[in-house]
Amino acid sequence: MIIAIDGPAASGKGTLGKRLAHHYGYRHLDTGVIYRAVAKAMLDAGADLTDETRAVAAALELDPEKFGDPVLKTQRVGDAASVVSAIAEVRRVLVNFQRQFAADPPGAVLDGRDIGTVICPDADVKIFVLADPKVRARRRTLEAKARGEDADEAEVLADILKRDERDRNRAASPLKPAADAYLLDNSQLDIEGGVRAAIEIVEAVRAGRQPV
Ligand code: C5P
Repeated sequence: MIIAIDGPAASGKGTLGKRLAHHYGYRHLDTGVIYRAVAKAMLDAGADLTDETRAVAAALELDPEKFGDPVLKTQRVGDAASVVSAIAEVRRVLVNFQRQFAADPPGAVLDGRDIGTVICPDADVKIFVLADPKVRARRRTLEAKARGEDADEAEVLADILKRDERDRNRAASPLKPAADAYLLDNSQLDIEGGVRAAIEIVEAVRAGRQPV
């Protein structure tokens, strides 16, 4: 089974993806990390983030062994990721890696922006996670502080809104729910509540019922 989870920045889709994968014994791919890794390579090289040739070269040279680097999680790299990910050719060279990951047994959960629409349009279950931007900013600020980073909630909110705007309005694979995705608004839910709601959706779809 393939489960596609999409949603805007800081919506909690990554944690949800990881927890769902654990619950079902599937592998998990946080696809944001891929774009973040391309962005980090560009930043490290001092390259212009809109330089297509260099960004494509960086995407072709990605080393999945380095996807755990904590620097990838920073806001600076996330911002840069939303610029390089708008380059259609960068997205194109990363499609096969993601599809292969999804296809390998026993099943997979992928989270990102275009999993249900472009990468795995035939996913068995598609969930689109939403949350109020203010709630997302609060959560992201608390997470950054817990990591010992300095974070200002108003700045984090501005960054989230800017990133939403860029991700939704780009020509290449814009952020939007697939027509057959189930919406999950977790503004009022904690992590456990979100996980329970997602499992209910998966179970309903598996049983051929309409999720409530
Ligand atoms: O999800 P995360 O915040 O880690 O993603 C970082 C950036 O990478 C996003 O703002 C988005 O522009 C891009 N991204 C994407 N497609 C994906 C995953 C992430 O364009 N499947």
